[in-house]
Amino acid sequence: MERKKIKEVLKAGQVGEKILVKGWVRTKRGSKNVQFIALNDGSTILNLQVVAEIENFKEDFLKDINSGASLAVTGELVKSKGTEQSVELNATEITIYGKADPDKYPIQPKRHTLEFLRENAHLRFRTGTFSAVFRVRHAMAFAIHNYFNFKGFYYLNTPLITASDAEGAGQMFRVTTLPANNPPMTEEGKVDFSQDFFGGSTNLTVSGQLEGELGATALGEIYTFGPTFRAENSNTTRHLSEFWMIEPEMAFYNLKDNMDLAEDFLKYLIKYALDNCIDDLEFLTKRLHQEEKNKPQAERSMDLMEKLKFVLNDKFVRCTYTEAIDILKNSKQNKKGKFHYPVEWGVDLQSEHERYLVEKHFGKPVILIDYPKDIKAFYMKMNSDNKTVAAMDVLFPQIGEIIGGSEREADYDKLLKRMTEIGVPAKSMWWYMDTRRFGSVPHSGFGLGFERLVMFMTGMGNIRDVIPFPRTPKNAEF
Ligand code: 4AD
Ligand code: MG
Repeated sequence: MERKKIKEVLKAGQVGEKILVKGWVRTKRGSKNVQFIALNDGSTILNLQVVAEIENFKEDFLKDINSGASLAVTGELVKSKGTEQSVELNATEITIYGKADPDKYPIQPKRHTLEFLRENAHLRFRTGTFSAVFRVRHAMAFAIHNYFNFKGFYYLNTPLITASDAEGAGQMFRVTTLPANNPPMTEEGKVDFSQDFFGGSTNLTVSGQLEGELGATALGEIYTFGPTFRAENSNTTRHLSEFWMIEPEMAFYNLKDNMDLAEDFLKYLIKYALDNCIDDLEFLTKRLHQEEKNKPQAERSMDLMEKLKFVLNDKFVRCTYTEAIDILKNSKQNKKGKFHYPVEWGVDLQSEHERYLVEKHFGKPVILIDYPKDIKAFYMKMNSDNKTVAAMDVLFPQIGEIIGGSEREADYDKLLKRMTEIGVPAKSMWWYMDTRRFGSVPHSGFGLGFERLVMFMTGMGNIRDVIPFPRTPKNAEF
């Protein structure tokens, strides 16, 4: 018999139909005569209820079926007596693929803390919460490709190993095959990277943008979607050392076009999730609700589904950095000294400031533009005031910065001047400079942090819980 996925059975299964399903046991309960097994195969958050009458099986056979065990079950669909689902499976034959000793299997049928599940990250996929999160993550990846394909953008794969520092922030992991304890040295006493694998010093990329710009200035509109790496020692709930980023780059787009695209893109993704992941989103909404119950009223966040619709239905506020600083300075929060970090024109905004603007002041997602040049990367277009650049950060409730982008400096001389000022090596980046030497065009782009998007979509509060195998300082176990 051909195996059926549980999602399909629960959607379209007919009473009287004989079927075969395979999956893992979530829970088992029952009485002397009959056992009820909740079976899940990952195709949906919902479990199929398997009814096994003791008399149909060999003595003690059902005793080996515990949470975590894997089964194949054949039987007949009958009308469900419960209210949750329309059908359940009356088992006639069960094969146990693998048992799970209840004294040793870590994922017991009870509420585990997220911390505990992080320590058991190899098994956390088997919980409702994590299966829902990773199904939503998949749906978002698929929707991203869908969106750009529909818009005529090309998916461009940029290198993971590079010789340049795209953000100019020096937060890179070195890639080398030189021996760690006795590397070749130059006469000046420095490590001689000319003898290294690539004939020079290389690192893992922090962004695919610079290569993306090369593609965009010929193909028109491109996007990257790949892992990026940052050796930044920030142990927060919003930072990973290895994260995925989506970076569209568009020729002939100015900052406004860039903002319009970012807003349309994010709204498309939210709508896609609401249309395609509703079971998982409803489950995650309930989960969050449970979790929030234990927090003081003032710290509770908005209901997940409400929050998604709130972003979908409102036009994002667009506001300059300078205006934002004024708002923050004059806020009650600031006057009462409640921000941990100071607010002054010129400082980088902290997530407490970003969230104040979004959650308290505007009550809407915010796109902040025109940041001071000194807190942004070298490639951003200088504004006519010579103090600010055409940057844009999209700020979301709960997350803070979800997108960072800008219009790019398209003028060769201005770009070179800025790079020289802040010590970015233009000479070794001659290939990048060539886009400004030959047929330079106004162009723009942005980067969406994939995990920050998934955090927002699922309501998970810690970025480590939305990537299958998180990499953070002092942690690369699984
Ligand atoms: O603002 P960032 O650093 O911008 C860039 O890398 C540009 N090259 C993008 C571009 O214009 N093409 O990063 C972009 C986004 C942030 O808004 C955030 O969502 C996410 O990437 N991000 C991180 N996510 C997880 N962990 C980290 N350490 C992150 N750093 C940035
Ligand atoms: Mg940024």
